[in-house]
Amino acid sequence: SRRFVALDLAKRKAEGRKIIALTAYHAHTAGILDPHCDFILVGDSLGMVMHGMESTLPVTLEMMIVQAQAVMRGTQRALIVVDMPFGSYEASREQAFLNAARVLKETGAGAIKMEGGARFAETVAFLTERGVPVMGHIGLTPQSVNTMGGFKVQGRSGESERRLMEDARAINDAGAFAIVMEGIVEPVARAIATNAAITTPTIGIGASAHCDGQILVLEDMLGLSDRAPKFVKRFGSLRAHIEAAVQDYVDDVRSGRFPAEEHTYRPL
Ligand code: KIV
Ligand code: NA
Repeated sequence: SRRFVALDLAKRKAEGRKIIALTAYHAHTAGILDPHCDFILVGDSLGMVMHGMESTLPVTLEMMIVQAQAVMRGTQRALIVVDMPFGSYEASREQAFLNAARVLKETGAGAIKMEGGARFAETVAFLTERGVPVMGHIGLTPQSVNTMGGFKVQGRSGESERRLMEDARAINDAGAFAIVMEGIVEPVARAIATNAAITTPTIGIGASAHCDGQILVLEDMLGLSDRAPKFVKRFGSLRAHIEAAVQDYVDDVRSGRFPAEEHTYRPL
């Protein structure tokens, strides 16, 4: 069976079936998600999650390409979407195309994602017309942390609400194959997700249950991250599991229970 492609998300929406997505940066975790997810996002959240950065701004295109290659090797079914990091697409639509083409050529991924609303509509159209499927990302866009003045939930004022609807319309009309909506208050998220003019699937993260699909950062939902935003439900408690296993290891090494006979090489 072939890999999911960008256009398959529209089929899910047409069927009224929720689109299932998570992030992954590694071959092993991606392989676990592969049978369950319609798409897997190699998010620039890897800067914070894997590297302990305070924001996603320092993430480079090279970092994204290396982790996307790992995720491609670990999967065979899901569509793999790769985030364009800060500074790799904003200067011009040509810059965006050249870097997006590099990502697709060097990783084999099926699509890229870029943050931004109406101002990036031209770029979305330019890339889509040239063979690069683009997933949009509006609302709380973490790469804008310095101009937003923090990680702030969007849509709380009339002006913010109007801007979000404009952003969604513009990215939709420019040909984005899906739109991630992050950190948007429920009535506004619902108004966008259920608007007849927004035909492209909406993927929510902190943007209500009205979206056509949902995405979370894997390490957050697994309970591996030490902190996570309000919109994260912890479906696991990996931190506690790892801590308990490490404690057992420490105890066994100290007491001499590990390594045992079955872990020991003997002459033939
Ligand atoms: O980088 C990321 O993980 C993302 C998702 C949270 C949508 O952009
Ligand atoms: Na991201």
